[in-house]
Amino acid sequence: MTVQPLARQSGGSLPLLTLDQSLDLDNEAANKLYAQHLNKYMLQLFDILGLKDLDIKGAQGAEIWLNDGRTLLDFSGGLGVLGLGHNHPRIIEAERKCHERKIIDCIKIAPHKLQGALAYNLAQFLPDPLKVSFLAVSGAEANEAAMKLAERVQTPKGKRKFLCMQGAFHGKTHGALSLTTATDVQSGFLLGVPKENVIYATYADIDSMRAAINAERDAKGGNTIIAAMIETVRGTSCEIPPPGYLTEFIRLCRENDILAIFDEVKIGMGRSGRFCAFQHEGNVVPDIVTMAKTLGGGKREVAAMVTSQALFDKAYGNRNDCNLHSSSFSGLGESCAAAIETLNILQDEKLIERAATMGRYLSQGLQGLKAKYPNQILDVRGRGMFQAMRMNFNQELASKVLDIKTNPLFITYQSVLIGALTRELFDRHNVLVHFQPGARDTLHFMPPYIVTEQQLDTLIGSLDQVLARGITDATVRFVVKNIKRVFS
Ligand SMILES: Cc1ncc(COP(=O)(O)O)c(C=O)c1O
Repeated sequence: MTVQPLARQSGGSLPLLTLDQSLDLDNEAANKLYAQHLNKYMLQLFDILGLKDLDIKGAQGAEIWLNDGRTLLDFSGGLGVLGLGHNHPRIIEAERKCHERKIIDCIKIAPHKLQGALAYNLAQFLPDPLKVSFLAVSGAEANEAAMKLAERVQTPKGKRKFLCMQGAFHGKTHGALSLTTATDVQSGFLLGVPKENVIYATYADIDSMRAAINAERDAKGGNTIIAAMIETVRGTSCEIPPPGYLTEFIRLCRENDILAIFDEVKIGMGRSGRFCAFQHEGNVVPDIVTMAKTLGGGKREVAAMVTSQALFDKAYGNRNDCNLHSSSFSGLGESCAAAIETLNILQDEKLIERAATMGRYLSQGLQGLKAKYPNQILDVRGRGMFQAMRMNFNQELASKVLDIKTNPLFITYQSVLIGALTRELFDRHNVLVHFQPGARDTLHFMPPYIVTEQQLDTLIGSLDQVLARGITDATVRFVVKNIKRVFS
């Protein structure tokens, strides 16, 4: 429906939109509300990329259906949330079952049986001794839980610092933000962990990590480091650490009494072709692992921090302290149900193995493109259903049609070029892909694990056509028709 100018009620307020009206809003009306009541600057960005006009009727699997009759293939995967794709029938059925049985969603003054069941299921996928969970609603909150648990264990020993990787992304809440430097997202914020309590190492460089630890060593050979946190596949650039690196990472941590926290928020839950990406490397086991995104089956917000009983006991192991870290929405019934079903789907439908197989198929296709367009593609990288292509952009091209200094949203020429590429794939090929501000020359592909070879062929074929045409035209069109229009 179109939102008509609503008549004020006698008290001066406007009538509420009903749920039916809200579900039936047409795209223009919905965008107007978004601009007025959410974030009009984000809407400008969506506009530039063509995504403001994404008038969505529905979605299933890797497909999104638009009201104008177009069907899109979604390789953006909810930036990692949609391992099972949109509206997986078994997740919908799990929700229906919960509704039919009128399950209790929230009981904060007693244990909820689905929380125990979910934590048990998670433990079955993880190596010993990772058996005790804290449930949360987002990746950032799972990381907050990990950091707080580590602090409880280590600060009594006088330890005060976190070691993290340069250019890491762990979330945008205050604590997780303190360890997040993928872009300038810390800008202007008071951080949960002060800057002097955070030290850095270069990602996937064990010598750099060793040097960072050595720099913190005191006269007795001890150190001040509470924990080292790392993404087991770097999310912004889709970088995979070299074989043996995570083993050395854990060894350095153990030798120096530093807790190892693996952030598997994005790559975990099967995306890499193993349940957790660290499981690609032999017997590596962190002290704490965090997961989110695909855990909710694409329908629910649920996350988990998983650790050992021994560490949990050290942090919270008595009646006074057992509730020191908690949250209102931790482990709501239906979220747990969706997560329990997600884990069963992964197992029953062998989707983790499928992520590996389809990942190899996608990687081969991308490698084929790299061989065909060596001047345009610098690198193809990835694991399972997280693959990426680093582009060799000709920045002069963009600088001829746009003055970047006067543009408030696109702060580098690379983002203009990758924006043009992304929009071209959407406009002309009905394919959705994405890029991250932390790596503006890299196109990301995160298909659902249920993706078919045919759908991946469509992606490769579309990329092939765009690259064959070259992106000069696309860039000029993108700048003239989109960027300049939005800012004129
Ligand atoms: C590796 C990683 N950790 C943490 C987070 C934060 O998760 P959330 O956005 O659910 O807070 C993200 C989000 O993209 C992520 O990629």
